[in-house]
Amino acid sequence: MSPSEASSSRDLLPASADPTLLETPVGYVDLRRVAANAERVAKYASAHGLGWRPHIKTHKSRAIARIQLEAGAVGLTVATLHEAEVMATLTDDLLLAYPPVGARKLDRLLRLPLTLDLKVALDSVEVLQALATAAEAVGRTVGIVVEQDVGMGRVGVQSGDAVTGLASRASDLAGVEFRGILFYPGHIRMSHEEQGAHLKDVADRVHETLERLGAAGLEPGIVSGGSTPTLWRSHEVAGLTEIRSGSCIFNDREAVDVGVASRDDLAYTVLATVISTAVPGRAVVDAGSKALSKETRGNGGGFGFLLDHPEVVVASLSEEHGVLDLGSTTWRPAIGERVRVVPNHVCVSVNLQDHLLARDGDQHSLLPLEGRGRGPWKG
Ligand SMILES: Cc1ncc(COP(=O)(O)O)c(C=O)c1O
Repeated sequence: MSPSEASSSRDLLPASADPTLLETPVGYVDLRRVAANAERVAKYASAHGLGWRPHIKTHKSRAIARIQLEAGAVGLTVATLHEAEVMATLTDDLLLAYPPVGARKLDRLLRLPLTLDLKVALDSVEVLQALATAAEAVGRTVGIVVEQDVGMGRVGVQSGDAVTGLASRASDLAGVEFRGILFYPGHIRMSHEEQGAHLKDVADRVHETLERLGAAGLEPGIVSGGSTPTLWRSHEVAGLTEIRSGSCIFNDREAVDVGVASRDDLAYTVLATVISTAVPGRAVVDAGSKALSKETRGNGGGFGFLLDHPEVVVASLSEEHGVLDLGSTTWRPAIGERVRVVPNHVCVSVNLQDHLLARDGDQHSLLPLEGRGRGPWKG
């Protein structure tokens, strides 16, 4: 490493902050990179006439959601009722992109503030009917977006006709109103350049659905799509009104591999400490699977890489040990040296943290993760 590279890495590591903040492993966020990422996505969306409704499962933090809203996000997307309760304190435009099944979840959903423009994504008559009945009983009308599977094979009805059937049912029921459609292209994770044919297939399916809805006189105000791997090509799906891209706020190893982010756009790492160099060719850090997660995500193997030594991969993990492969580097770390690990998939790593250590210039602070957990949010 050249002296200038060495000093720029040191600049980015917390040096003089309160040492109690620096106990590792800890999720470490660069707030200036977060703000730059938010501005870039909001600018792209607005240039293409799209709204940005970020999925906040990535960060689960009110402070980060505020940055997204200040950058121009039109509202927020959540997956859990706990996230909904937390984020309803920040926005009046919320989408639950997950079917609420069961009386307890419906009860929590319908207790969200009445001032909220609340929308729920679902893909079955069962969930639609139960939600409509519960909402009508409390005198509330909840927006419905019908989820369509566009190739991931996770959730979502299978055709434009099925979307239209559910949309028309929603239009007939009290307690709910049809607002639009939603899809998640989570199967498109190849490099940015190789996505064309897959996005065309998504665009064709959405086009067919919009035609069917139009023929039935059901105009969707919302056509919600987007992901981080497909972020900069979202506009290739005609008719889209908003994107929910979420992990782009921090980015991760996958985002760099796919080519939607550069290493300079990585706003989240796990700050870790080298705890052993006893085994030749290896160094062990205190970030194991309980800080990074064991997500593989189809990249070249391993569970992350070092931001300041990108040639060094986390080759294997135990719960509290991350084993670095030093086979491709001349860097020889000392015990106690701090490193920043870029995880394969940022969202699951964040969810493993108690809080985040946030850096803003040379200031450091701890950010609570209010959206973690499942029970009712106590505020
Ligand atoms: C329904 C839904 N929408 C949006 C997203 C955000 O995707 P990404 O993190 O790739 O931006 C996800 C991620 O899992 C999702 O499940």
